[in-house]
Amino acid sequence: RSNGLAQTPPVGWSSWNNFGDDINEQIVIETIDAMIANGMRDAGYVFVNLDDGWQRYKGARRDHPLEFDPKKFPRGISYLADYAHQRGMKLGIYSGPGQTTCAGYTGSEGHEAEDARMFANWGVDHLKYDSCCSHREAPKEELQKIFRTMSNALMTQKHGIVLHACHCGWGDIWEWAAGLGVNHWRIGQDISDDFNYPGNREQYYFDVLDQLDRGVGLEKYAGPGHWNDYDMLIVGLDGQSKQLVGTGASNIEYRTHFSLWAMVSSPMLVGADVRKLDQYSLETLTNKEIVALNQDPAGNIAHKVRDDGDLEVFARELADGSHAVLLLNRGAATATMTFSPRADLQAPMDRYSIRDLWKHRDLGTYDIPFTTEVQSHEARVFRIRQLATSANGRSVSDAAEQEL
Ligand code: GLA
Repeated sequence: RSNGLAQTPPVGWSSWNNFGDDINEQIVIETIDAMIANGMRDAGYVFVNLDDGWQRYKGARRDHPLEFDPKKFPRGISYLADYAHQRGMKLGIYSGPGQTTCAGYTGSEGHEAEDARMFANWGVDHLKYDSCCSHREAPKEELQKIFRTMSNALMTQKHGIVLHACHCGWGDIWEWAAGLGVNHWRIGQDISDDFNYPGNREQYYFDVLDQLDRGVGLEKYAGPGHWNDYDMLIVGLDGQSKQLVGTGASNIEYRTHFSLWAMVSSPMLVGADVRKLDQYSLETLTNKEIVALNQDPAGNIAHKVRDDGDLEVFARELADGSHAVLLLNRGAATATMTFSPRADLQAPMDRYSIRDLWKHRDLGTYDIPFTTEVQSHEARVFRIRQLATSANGRSVSDAAEQEL
């Protein structure tokens, strides 16, 4: 069962990571305007998703209806959906299967069909349906029922609504959610605003590298229409979020996080306040060559093809037959890394061209393994393309690349 949506991962913005439940109409309008003015929309960021906190009432659904908060959203949700649509963007909303949501607002339990109709009438394009990590020990059938009920309710609406099952990865959700028509599912708990904070893994919060590790082995469950969701982006939060724990990450670490989420085709929802993005973060997020990896129509998820301690190589084949290769250095010092198409891609490329997707530069033609420097916590990302073998093929030595 499929709704046919999200053939490539949803890319956009979500209110939660920066604003928590302190959201309102003005923030959403200013966010849409900012995403148009700063080039994000044109780089592919079309979803503008309200997370928890748009609702009028806190407390159990049996005691309160589900309505938008008229103080926060005086013109209602449909006004915002229209505002987004008129500008080539989409609006997302949030609810959950319980009596209350994660932040304590009224949930959808027992009112799924009615709520799906209401969201559709408002013109909403995306629903994050959040179990708040509950039902950890529940039988799979019970979990499946929860998401099937909402998925079916959405599919009877006149226009398509992308469904995100936010469920912390319990019950091996990746094994069955796509079959229910779910378009993306979280593979783990919320990430903190940290690249690799010691001790995080033992606590409730994961960091970027924790979540990356959690995804290893889950690649086969994702593809067009159904994606592993590594959680919203922390790029640009700089440890300032009132909502997330974490001390922030460096520019390079945020860029690495972004490159990794692109390589594994996670949905990419920016969590920072886009009205105030610094230049470096904006350049990171609007690198169209990296966004294109995330949006590649073949939907192959990058696999870790080599693991030499702190040095890891990830690769994926793209729709046009070229390959994306990511060299990750988890270590504390700059390292020299090599990749060989023959050994790392199992692709017999004798001659190949390389493009550096962060430097936006073609590095030339190679017939030997490629060697380069990778800084601590950096990810270098390349697109390599097989060339016809020729006796006159120009080889570029390691030394030549060092000069670039
Ligand atoms: C959970 C989710 C978060 C966010 C909050 C809202 O914690 O994992 O992404 O949606 O709920 O309350």
